[in-house]
Parts: sequence; structure tokens; C-alpha cells
Amino acid sequence: MANRWINTLNDNDVTPEDLFVNRRQIMGGALAGIGLVGMGQAASAAPEGLEPNSFEEITSYNNYYEFGTGKDDPAKYAASLTTQPWTVQIEGMVDKPGPYAFEDIMKAMTIEERLYKFRCVEAWSMVVPWNGFELADLLNMAGVQSGAKYVAFETALRPDEMPGVAYNVLDWPYVEGLRLDEAMNPLTIMATGIYGKDIPNQNGAPLRLVVPWKYGFKSIKSIVKITLTDTQPATSWNKANAREYGFYSNVNPEVDHPRWSQASERMIGGGLFSKRIPTLMFNGYEEEVASLYTGMDLSKEI
Ligand code: MTE
Repeated sequence: MANRWINTLNDNDVTPEDLFVNRRQIMGGALAGIGLVGMGQAASAAPEGLEPNSFEEITSYNNYYEFGTGKDDPAKYAASLTTQPWTVQIEGMVDKPGPYAFEDIMKAMTIEERLYKFRCVEAWSMVVPWNGFELADLLNMAGVQSGAKYVAFETALRPDEMPGVAYNVLDWPYVEGLRLDEAMNPLTIMATGIYGKDIPNQNGAPLRLVVPWKYGFKSIKSIVKITLTDTQPATSWNKANAREYGFYSNVNPEVDHPRWSQASERMIGGGLFSKRIPTLMFNGYEEEVASLYTGMDLSKEI
């Protein structure tokens, strides 16, 4: 298994924006499997036929409430976040709890490129070429103990660097959670880059979760703590409004948000021509993840 630093990925390993678009055009509709390991093995986990958004779009239309609630606030203000050095505390039901330096995590992980559609609960979507590693690899590094059932995540809370936390729009720090089997699913990644560049602060530097079959708010940014637990963890949006946001938050066109339909989505980009497309169950990843929810009533377990 090749251990690579994202910073030392060479030009042949990552996909510059223009090449990426060309390659996808060449590949046409034959996009199915999961994951890319560099340029060599071209495969994709984005639902068929979708073009990736531009780097500009992905990094200028954001949700990161620690820097304000406007879509352009994170790009304006997140530069103030110090992301080096960075430590992730891994604790709870693990064999090797403790602080993990970001550099050490990166040395131990295989960085891959994954093209994922990202569906926001506000009914827009983007297609993002992430660089990152599987969350399962990090959890296995810490050694998950039997009995652990959930993974809780926490974002940094830095009032000096985060102007938005002065406002009580959410109960800070931002927290999220996954069931352990969701966290271990190979589609679940920790993203550390976009288009082969280090992930910009507004997108959650230096590492953020990406869970492509769930609404975007599950993809918690700038993670400083991961806790393995046997109890379902609290999540920020559920605490803020339990009627609108449940623990699971799976993309589901059949269950409307109390204030709007979830049946279709507006694709960001293309200016006036931005397209509306039907939203797919589990955001198009049904084949890979539907079995995780067998026996659950997804109209109730939202
Ligand atoms: N993580 C933190 N810490 N704070 C946030 O406000 N917003 C969430 C999620 N992660 C958020 C967060 C929401 S609502 C969305 S839609 C995505 O981040 C947006 O990710 P993006 O800006 O990279 O597109």
C-alpha cells in the first residue's frame, strides 16, 4: 500500500481541472465503480454523466457557519483559521486513544481521488473531486473496540479565529455523528484536498468528513475530535431543530423537508442555465448503501 503525502502527489497522480473535465468526456457515461487511485485507474463514484463543478464554484459557495451564515462568508473569512499544526484527538472505545498529528495521519494514509455528488439539504447540489482517505483506515489505525456502535465528530471551536461563533445560530462546537457501519463504509471519506490541491479553509481544512449519500450537513468540517461510543451522539442540526433534522439525514426524495420538497435539486453552476434534476434515493448511491438500512422505516428515521 503506497503511503503518500498529498503535497508530494506528482502531476501524474492528481487531476488538474481541465484534464478532469476532458477525461470525463472521454469516459462518457461509463462511470460506475468507486474511487480513483491517481490518474491511472479511472473510475468514479459520481452518478452517471455529471460534470464536476469548477474549483471556483466549490470554494466560493459554502456553508461553514463558524464563519457566518452567508454562502460567501466562508470564502471571505475562513482564511483566519490556523490549520497548522493540527491535531485530531481520537478517544472513547479505541485501543489507541490520544492526539494524532495531522502530518502523522497523512503519512499513514493512502490518498485517493474520489468524485462525489454532494447534495445539500437546501436542495442544491455540486459534483466535487475530493482527495482524501477512507475514514475506516483512520478508525482502524486507532483500533475500534468491540462494543463501539457510533462515531462522534467535533469541529474546532476558536472564537478568536471564527467570527460566526459569536452568534448562537448553532450550539458550538459543531458536532456530528455516524453509526459505526456507516463510518466504516468505503464510500465514507476524510477529505484533505479538492482537485489535488490542499482543501481550502472554507471547505473544512485540514480534514473534513464526506458522506456522499447523506445531506451535506453531515459532512463536518475541520475535525479536532473523533469519539467511538456505544451511544447515539448528538448532532448540531438535530439539536437546533429536531423536527427538521434527524440523526440519519439520508438523501431521500420521498421525504420532504418540513419547509420544502426534496424531490429535485438545483445543480450549482452554469449561471442562468443551472439545471434542476430529480434527486435520487441515497443521492445515487443506493446500490452501495441501501442494505445498511434494511428493516428501518426511512420516512420516520429521517
Ligand atoms: N461543518 C461545520 N463545522 N460547520 C458548518 O456550518 N456546514 C455543513 C457541512 N459541514 C458546516 C459543516 C453544511 S450545512 C454543508 S451543506 C456542508 O458542510 C458544505 O460543505 P462545502 O462548503 O464544502 O460545500
